[in-house]
Amino acid sequence: MGLVKFVGIVCTLLTACGRIGAQASGAKAPGNVTSGKQMFLEVGCAACHGAQGQGTDLAPQIAPPPLDLEPMIAYLRQPTGKMPPVPSGTASDQQLADIYAYLKSVGPPGSLINQLKGNPENGKKLFVAYGCYECHGWQGAGAAIAPRIGPPALSLAGLLRYVRAPTGQMPPYTAKVASDQDLADIYAYLKTLPPPQPANKVPLLSQ
Ligand code: HEC
Ligand code: HEC
Repeated sequence: MGLVKFVGIVCTLLTACGRIGAQASGAKAPGNVTSGKQMFLEVGCAACHGAQGQGTDLAPQIAPPPLDLEPMIAYLRQPTGKMPPVPSGTASDQQLADIYAYLKSVGPPGSLINQLKGNPENGKKLFVAYGCYECHGWQGAGAAIAPRIGPPALSLAGLLRYVRAPTGQMPPYTAKVASDQDLADIYAYLKTLPPPQPANKVPLLSQ
């Protein structure tokens, strides 16, 4: 079983790699928006993620798609969280590429979020005020109970999505508690932080 899954992932990656090559050489777009829109409803993505991928109480916003095509397909075949897997019998790689194209064609909210300008000074204060530091440590360098988040590996949209609906032990921060602008400020602050030192220079991490 493990092997079958593994082979499946490799094939998925190879197919997607082929497509990326085609894109790079200026070939036609990989997905068809119209059939993607239809698939999005038929396969049931819309039931959880909303008709436009805008997000609902059940599932996060996914338009524009938070992942590149290739990792999104890999994710859908083997989701890590609460989402049910989408086997290739339900939607082929090509059909997922169509869905991807559809999700790219809608959803200005995500791109607007990425355009929010954060104020790092204010973000530094909010990082303390909202208690992020209590778990993630001063300067977001990580602590025993929570990972390093400064500088952030996620996009602003990714961080917002995560903080609104964490998948693990982190408590969620709703829009009522922390506005998008507040989180954009925190993001801007986290961006100003120095990257981690190589692990071998940090005694605690090399244990
Ligand atoms: C039964 C509800 C349900 C259905 C159906 C569903 N999803 Fe999801 N999806 C979720 C949930 C819940 C999550 C959040 C997963 C988690 O973190 O636990 C998620 C996460 C995702 C993510 C990752 C989001 C991120 O920010 O990393 C993508 C992409 C995604 N879904 C796409 C799809 C697509 C495309 C379809 C249709 C083929 C689909 N989903 C069908 C519930 C669903
Ligand atoms: C009560 C402890 C706690 C607080 C408070 C907290 N976090 Fe977290 N956070 C966690 C833990 C634990 C994780 C690891 C994943 C999980 O269990 O959810 C995490 C994960 C994250 C991640 C994802 C990291 C990754 O690389 O995937 C981000 C981003 C994040 N936190 C940002 C914040 C921000 C911003 C705040 C303040 C607004 C905050 N957290 C407050 C405990 C906390």
